[in-house]
Amino acid sequence: MLQVDFGNIGSQRIGPEQGVEWARELEAAAAKLKSARDSLWNRASDAAAMLGWVRLPDDAEAAREIVAFSAAQDWVSDVLVLGIGGSALGAKALDAALGGGGARLHFVDNVEPEPLAALFERLDPRTTLVNVISKSGTTAETMAAFLLALAWLRKHLGEGWQKHALVTTDPERGVLRPFAREHGLASFAVPADVGGRFSVFSAVGLLPLALAGVDVDGLLAGARQANQTARAGVAQNTPAQTALAQYLAWRKGQRISVLMPYSSRLALLPAWFVQLHAESLGKAYDRSGSRVHVGPTPLAAVGATDQHSQVQLFREGPYDKLVVFVRLREAGRDLTLPAEEGLRALDYLFGKSLFQLLSAEAAATAHALAEARRANYTLFLDRLDAFHLGWLLQHLMWQTAFLGELFNVNAFDQPGVELGKRYTYALMGHPQFRELARQLQEAGVRP
Ligand code: PA5
Repeated sequence: MLQVDFGNIGSQRIGPEQGVEWARELEAAAAKLKSARDSLWNRASDAAAMLGWVRLPDDAEAAREIVAFSAAQDWVSDVLVLGIGGSALGAKALDAALGGGGARLHFVDNVEPEPLAALFERLDPRTTLVNVISKSGTTAETMAAFLLALAWLRKHLGEGWQKHALVTTDPERGVLRPFAREHGLASFAVPADVGGRFSVFSAVGLLPLALAGVDVDGLLAGARQANQTARAGVAQNTPAQTALAQYLAWRKGQRISVLMPYSSRLALLPAWFVQLHAESLGKAYDRSGSRVHVGPTPLAAVGATDQHSQVQLFREGPYDKLVVFVRLREAGRDLTLPAEEGLRALDYLFGKSLFQLLSAEAAATAHALAEARRANYTLFLDRLDAFHLGWLLQHLMWQTAFLGELFNVNAFDQPGVELGKRYTYALMGHPQFRELARQLQEAGVRP
């Protein structure tokens, strides 16, 4: 199950200035949320609407191909995953949470030379698979890493290098697709109507995760569950409700949206969420073309670690945050704290479990924030497994889509990111961007 406790956004708990009359707000927004839901589901089959991610959990054929391909790669000890942004963050977060049963994944999502050089020294090319992932098939960071990885494979493996390169890209666009065809490389497609940050349940995320031994079918079953709740009426529609809570918080001036899982295994989840919310909702114009400059600022935190860091700010700093906790109801493996005669001052811990302590920390922080009139709510997962993480990630994608409707912005484009990419091409001498390069030179911009 994925359940939400909204208690700490209520005005009875945190006062009328910061809190909301949740039941009343939900009722008032019911018609709007219902029409947002209907509009999203109606657009889901329209390729131009970029809602293809909604259908990914039902694509059993694609999942079968991915699982079969990865099962055949029993020679692979390490996978070099080359991708950036939406082409890396989902698999990175889920590998950190669930990986460990298969090949080791190494994510290259930056162009800093030292770490990549170190990887090339450390990895054995004979048992390494390079999975280059780029929806557009043009992103400079990923292409640069791929050029280096190809040279590394060719140098060490000679003619046998093709078996070690795997391409995930758009069915048609970009330079990778023809390259894969020319060299007979294994390749998978990112559906044209699935954007990068919504692509974790396509081959973008599932392929490296399957190679890492993650239960791909479990992830998709969980994502289907999120789809089911996103179809439900407003009273049962968890993503519509969390979107509303986020939207109301924004309107109250709580313009920073913190995601704080109480789990080190989920430490990379907020980075994925930050990209999802920031790129989808940070928009200059609404859908009618009016200048709006909206978008909550997403912020990453991890419990209990950040209780000794950011929580001071969350509790006593400006009233500008909504904190969302993610908690597990079950520990999985747990550890009992042993008694120690020489440390009697700690006897309040003796015999308790480590998970009990973690849960107490989460409950204590939520209460301490509420007591200081800081809005927060908690997402509870029964346990940390593929099913529940599939549910959680698809839930957060739905939340983002609903927020796009509430803010009336296109949550599925990223003009600000694209502009940065074009400037980079120009500065690096890409022949299609000569005019832009001239303008940048005039403006005094240098690499
Ligand atoms: O969400 C997005 O669209 C972006 O973050 C992209 O994933 C990122 O820019 C990488 O693009 P590509 O997969 O085309 O290389």
